[in-house]
Amino acid sequence: MIFCFTGTGNSLAVARNLASRLGEDIVMINHYTHPEVNAGESARVVWVFPIYSWGVPPVVLDFIDKVKITAGGGVPHFMVCTCGDDVGLAYVMWRRALARRGWRGVSAHSVAMPNTYVLLPGFDVDTAAVVREKLSAMPCRVERVAHAIKCCSNVDDVVKGSMAWIKSKVIYPLFVRFMMSPKPFHALSSCMGCGRCAANCPMGNIKMSSRRPMWNNHCALCLACYHSCPHHAVAYGKRTRDKGRWWNKA
Ligand SMILES: Cc1cc2nc3c(=O)[nH]c(=O)nc-3n(C[C@H](O)[C@H](O)[C@H](O)COP(=O)(O)O)c2cc1C
Ligand code: SF4
Ligand code: SF4
Repeated sequence: MIFCFTGTGNSLAVARNLASRLGEDIVMINHYTHPEVNAGESARVVWVFPIYSWGVPPVVLDFIDKVKITAGGGVPHFMVCTCGDDVGLAYVMWRRALARRGWRGVSAHSVAMPNTYVLLPGFDVDTAAVVREKLSAMPCRVERVAHAIKCCSNVDDVVKGSMAWIKSKVIYPLFVRFMMSPKPFHALSSCMGCGRCAANCPMGNIKMSSRRPMWNNHCALCLACYHSCPHHAVAYGKRTRDKGRWWNKA
């Protein structure tokens, strides 16, 4: 069984690739998911999600806390995260969250994918050349990860990056506390009222009212609404001015 959270599609692309190699089903983590899942004959649980501020997205931590997995008790758990660059100590965070449920996190793996974080100065989507490089390396990387999972390898294989402790233990909590508000989201005058932002929100956080999107408070800051708007009409305060977009169609 593969639990997957995705905003802009990178993690779903990795989860699908992994699912075909491991013969596992994908269960999406979103606000629609009833947190009771039958693991059936699954030999393992694989958690696939993006890295947020060198940590595990709060929506995934919340799901780990609440999900009831029936059958398949005692199976090994693996983490496969997607990231633009590096993951810090996110895998330690994931393992601690599992341990609170009495589950065993066997190993963690990272897969580099196109960056989606654009909300701070100096952060933008990757160039077309970097996107091509990351996407062409992904299937090989996932093949290696799938092999490690099949062998039940207990070796973590993640790109930690520099200053991992500070990034995950200091910056991550500040980011979650102060930088994840949906309040700055608004639609620009170029909005055509197509509703795609609302349809693509994994949290069901956007309601259309008089053909305009309205953001509520159950936001994961996945940026799917921003990146998927065909008219570039979703803005986050002034921070998204002149920023690029990425949407994984795979
Ligand atoms: C809020 C947010 C924070 C992010 N923080 C990081 C980070 O700390 N390190 C990193 O390498 N990538 C970071 N990224 C990039 C994503 O992890 C990466 O692009 C991921 O593949 C997106 O997955 P998705 O398409 O499944 O949503 C961040 C993206 C977002 C939206
Ligand atoms: S996706 Fe863009 S154009 Fe369509 S409703 Fe949302 S903001 Fe408006
Ligand atoms: S409102 Fe936008 S950023 Fe927030 S969860 Fe929905 S799609 Fe993601």
